[in-house]
Amino acid sequence: MPYTVPKLNDYSQSSLAKAASECIAACQAEAAQVRNDADLKSFRDRWMARKNGILTQINDLWLKGAPKDAKREAGIRVNELKARITELVDAAHVSSSTDSLAADAVDITLPGIRRPIGAEHPVIKTMHEIVGVFQKLGYSVAEGPVVETDYYNFESLNFPPNHPARDTQDTLFIAGQQSKPQRERLLLRTHTSPVQIRTMEQMRPPIRIVIPGTVHRNDPPDASHSPMFHQIEGLAVDTNITFGDLKGTLDHAMKALFGSNVKTHFRPSFFPFTEPSAELYVTCFICGGSGKRGSDPCRPCKQTGWIEVLGCGMVDPNVFEFVKDNGYDPKKVSGFAFGMGVDRLALLKYGVDDIQLFFQGDVRFLQQFA
Ligand code: PHE
Repeated sequence: MPYTVPKLNDYSQSSLAKAASECIAACQAEAAQVRNDADLKSFRDRWMARKNGILTQINDLWLKGAPKDAKREAGIRVNELKARITELVDAAHVSSSTDSLAADAVDITLPGIRRPIGAEHPVIKTMHEIVGVFQKLGYSVAEGPVVETDYYNFESLNFPPNHPARDTQDTLFIAGQQSKPQRERLLLRTHTSPVQIRTMEQMRPPIRIVIPGTVHRNDPPDASHSPMFHQIEGLAVDTNITFGDLKGTLDHAMKALFGSNVKTHFRPSFFPFTEPSAELYVTCFICGGSGKRGSDPCRPCKQTGWIEVLGCGMVDPNVFEFVKDNGYDPKKVSGFAFGMGVDRLALLKYGVDDIQLFFQGDVRFLQQFA
């Protein structure tokens, strides 16, 4: 039996509530039966039509027919009911029918959604290449924290407190550390070298590791500087490691990275944690070492034909003293270390003239390397 609006004899709260809930239930049941657009239209008309729709009938029968003293209460009820029924009718939709299948059909001939494929950032790509060269030589990969203590970044690398060598690394210190002893104060690591000590604390010799990571220095950004950049550190420790091993390893690595024609050249340098220390130069892979490009001067090597690629040296015995108890007795073991700036190598490799481009996240720039 389809729902018909009953006459109300009794205008008590409870009978009004009962009549209203029966009406709502009936409307819900009818809404669920809507199968096509024609159903939907007659459902709407039956409930909402101004002339003789169910809501109009309710108005007439329940409101106009109410005794004077019940009118106010009945008015509130009827209004609530109308709002609810209107909601139900508005929400009603064709639930399943051939009409709706046709309406929901997908045009499979339309082009699909193209999801752009990501790619390695040129700096990370260069990093992976360099790490790959050393992995083939049997090196493993180690990592360490970017927020580092004074002890690991400086003290254990033979930069004593207040030593002027600290001035060579313009350090970004974490604020509010003054109450701590100096060696526990936090800073942003200025190089990946602290991971040398961290690894030697964990692993006994012999070790051969490379350490990729980000480092920070208080350098204002310009075409060749960035306060954040990337380094790859290397460390080999064993009995009888010599400067000859250092030269042979790095010469091989440079040829693997830049081509077998590349020549290497070591110049004396200084780092507190290596002794002796050197800077490694390779023949400019832009001009091939001539210093000229055609009749123009070669800019990347400043016409010298050589490009500095890293700092290196034999691990200073003072560094081993800090990890002596883990098998690194400077009388028994020796080792070499090196550290290179990845961003600079990526700049040279890809012929990019501004390091800032690497960090601005402009997809138009980055996708050229994908
Ligand atoms: N840590 C040094 C720097 O950042 C590079 C280096 C590493 C030098 C290892 C020697 C040995 O400048």
